[in-house]
Amino acid sequence: MIKSSESEDLRGRYQRVIENIDNLPSLPAIVTKLLQIVNSADSSADDAAVLIQKDPALTSKMIRLANSAFYGIPRSISSVNSAVVILGFNTIRSLVLSASVMKMFSGPKYQAINKERFWKHSVVCAMCARIIVRYFMNIRMMDPESAFCAGILHDIGKLIFNEFAYEDYMDACEYARKYSVPLIEAESRMLGTNHAEIGKILSDKWALPLDLEYCLVYHHNPGGADNISELVATVHLADVIAHQIGAKLWDDEYCEDEWENTRTLLQITDDDFKKIMNTVSENLERSDEFINIIT
Ligand SMILES: [Fe+2]
Ligand SMILES: [Fe+2]
Repeated sequence: MIKSSESEDLRGRYQRVIENIDNLPSLPAIVTKLLQIVNSADSSADDAAVLIQKDPALTSKMIRLANSAFYGIPRSISSVNSAVVILGFNTIRSLVLSASVMKMFSGPKYQAINKERFWKHSVVCAMCARIIVRYFMNIRMMDPESAFCAGILHDIGKLIFNEFAYEDYMDACEYARKYSVPLIEAESRMLGTNHAEIGKILSDKWALPLDLEYCLVYHHNPGGADNISELVATVHLADVIAHQIGAKLWDDEYCEDEWENTRTLLQITDDDFKKIMNTVSENLERSDEFINIIT
């Protein structure tokens, strides 16, 4: 049982964390506009290209990525317009969101968490989610790029804790290490909230599309998602696999078991599971290339 002084302490921490998070910056206008373009049925590749070209740094990142081995496109792409047409709206959405979020949180490399390891985990999870959808999903059409984007952002709440509640978050990470519990559990125990709940606050503040919001909020509890359940389960499975192949915040970070219904819902067999692990492991180096270009 938590003693009253402990519970007061927890309330204090919770309040402090939430107040700090209130200072969270808005998404850059270019990203908000791009999200609107991607979501609108009337938009064209031109609309997205015109917008991206207003930002020279983003333009160069888009073109470098489109030509990188990460996408493996056999012809050379020299304009943002062709990048949008060839890669598709949802890929562009992932790239612009990733680049902007990485830039927003580009402070010191190591605070409560090591950001290089954080992004490596996120990108490996994203690649894995895309592989699951592209090669192993038999249920229904789901866009691999939405899965990629959700994978990139799924743990963003951790970065927000790290940025806005750094000292309290150190204690949560320390607790997770000391007692070998999942970080999400340590967050709830030490901060009175966790990165999935922060994902909800962030989704509201940034008006993220519903598919991303659900993945941020339910990736540790896919059974709780009453909508978009296959995408959420995909990100959950990809998260578990990213941990299993070593892309985690610290070497012995505890990884929870996967949700028992995940593979049934996604119709992934044991054989598929092994193949996914192998494919992700073979493509691991590509995650570094993505991070190098996007940051
Ligand atoms: Fe998470
Ligand atoms: Fe994760």
